[in-house]
Amino acid sequence: MSTLTITDNRTEPSEHAVGKSTLTITDNRTGKTYDVPVDNGTIRAMDLRQIKTGPDDFGLMTYDPAFMNTAACRSAVTFIDGDKGILRYRGYPIEQLAEKSNFLETAYLLLRGELPSRDQLDTWTYNITHHRFVHENVKKFMDGFRYDAHPMGVIISTIAALSTFYTEANQIKNAAIRQRQIFRLIAKTPTLAAFAYRHSVGLPYAYPDDDLSYCGNFLSMLFKATESKYVPNPVLERALDVLFILHADHEQNCSANAMRAVGSSEVDPYSAMAAAAAALYGPLHGGANEQVLRMLREIGDKKRIPDYIKRVKAKEVLLMGFGHRVYKNYDPRAKIIKQIADQVFEATGKNPLIDMALELERIALQDDYFVSHKLYPNVDFYSGIIYEAMGFPVTMFPVLFAIGRTPGWLAQWEEMLLDNEQKIARPRQVYTGSDKRDYAPIDKR
Ligand code: ACO
Repeated sequence: MSTLTITDNRTEPSEHAVGKSTLTITDNRTGKTYDVPVDNGTIRAMDLRQIKTGPDDFGLMTYDPAFMNTAACRSAVTFIDGDKGILRYRGYPIEQLAEKSNFLETAYLLLRGELPSRDQLDTWTYNITHHRFVHENVKKFMDGFRYDAHPMGVIISTIAALSTFYTEANQIKNAAIRQRQIFRLIAKTPTLAAFAYRHSVGLPYAYPDDDLSYCGNFLSMLFKATESKYVPNPVLERALDVLFILHADHEQNCSANAMRAVGSSEVDPYSAMAAAAAALYGPLHGGANEQVLRMLREIGDKKRIPDYIKRVKAKEVLLMGFGHRVYKNYDPRAKIIKQIADQVFEATGKNPLIDMALELERIALQDDYFVSHKLYPNVDFYSGIIYEAMGFPVTMFPVLFAIGRTPGWLAQWEEMLLDNEQKIARPRQVYTGSDKRDYAPIDKR
């Protein structure tokens, strides 16, 4: 191993730096010195390529498994300060949007960059409302799944299947065509989700009702029985709307990164979003809210919390719904969700798991392990408890997350497509395999 000596020529912290500054890098393998510009607290990895030991050397690369310290894009969509627990969409604090906005307006903000005028919002809402139906053939796909198919598997597959209905969608450079697919995806994802749910419980599919709001209609498609008109509970309708706002974007998380990476091949947005939804499905990402409920059930009694915490500290299990790659402070979304819980429980009756969750949080936040590791509740710690009180089975939790995250994925996708600096995503590797060797026939091995 050899070293570089790096001199930081900046005088101010990255976030206050005006204009560009530089690093001076001395390659101790050759003694050569390079000046590398620093812009926005970053250096360009490609600027390191010039650092070579000789003409045959490929040049220096960075090694960053799991992108722990790599900015893969410039983005104007979402700002997070994980140390301070700040989340803003297009500059607006999440707390203000959760209190004053609604999900479709927030979707507009994420995708268009500004809050809409009344006319703009009406047109936007109209367009989404009138794209909620899915082709009748989609029902046949749904019917093909087994009764106990996980609805997340169903939704990933049916989102991908939509690309076969809208063959124009692969014209991703055409802004009007892109916009149409954006309307369709925001509009139809709840329809697919509701169909997946109704299939799992053996109920006939309920069609969209254009008189109802985005969330009111979703509740209707899920829970409508024999009544001719479903009347959503306004508290649950609003709570769901706020939960969707809270989940709408979270900058370069695993699924947004999947959306960008797959979309960078210039595939249609349905295929890219199916990949994003697949990334979300995992228990370390959007699948965590499902795991939180399973964990709370496994603990079963407040008395057993200390034992569970011991197992977490012994690294036998994770405390699901705790910890975050970016937040090293209380996740601001978890704070808002805790407040919604009270309103929902007034309408639905209390979910007894909330007391256990609160006690688990109380004990964990007093424990040195969690304090020193900066592990706080994340958005998923309380969301599942609310969803369960609203009547959703646990398998639907990541599906709800996917509905909320749809505008964020689409905003990240479109930003990537319009960014001249982006190309097909294609990381490098450090090869650790065999040197060249010759193929041996099978009886000589
Ligand atoms: N319970 C116990 N210990 C934890 C937890 C947890 N939930 N999360 C992190 N740690 C510990 C790790 O064991 C590690 O300890 P060590 O330094 O002593 O080895 C340290 O904290 C750092 O953890 P990493 O796994 O390196 O952190 P990373 O940023 O890679 O992981 C993640 C973040 C995946 C969210 C992790 O905290 C986790 O698995 N949490 C539980 C699953 C969860 O709630 N996911 C939802 C995330 S939010 C979302 O996607 C919407």
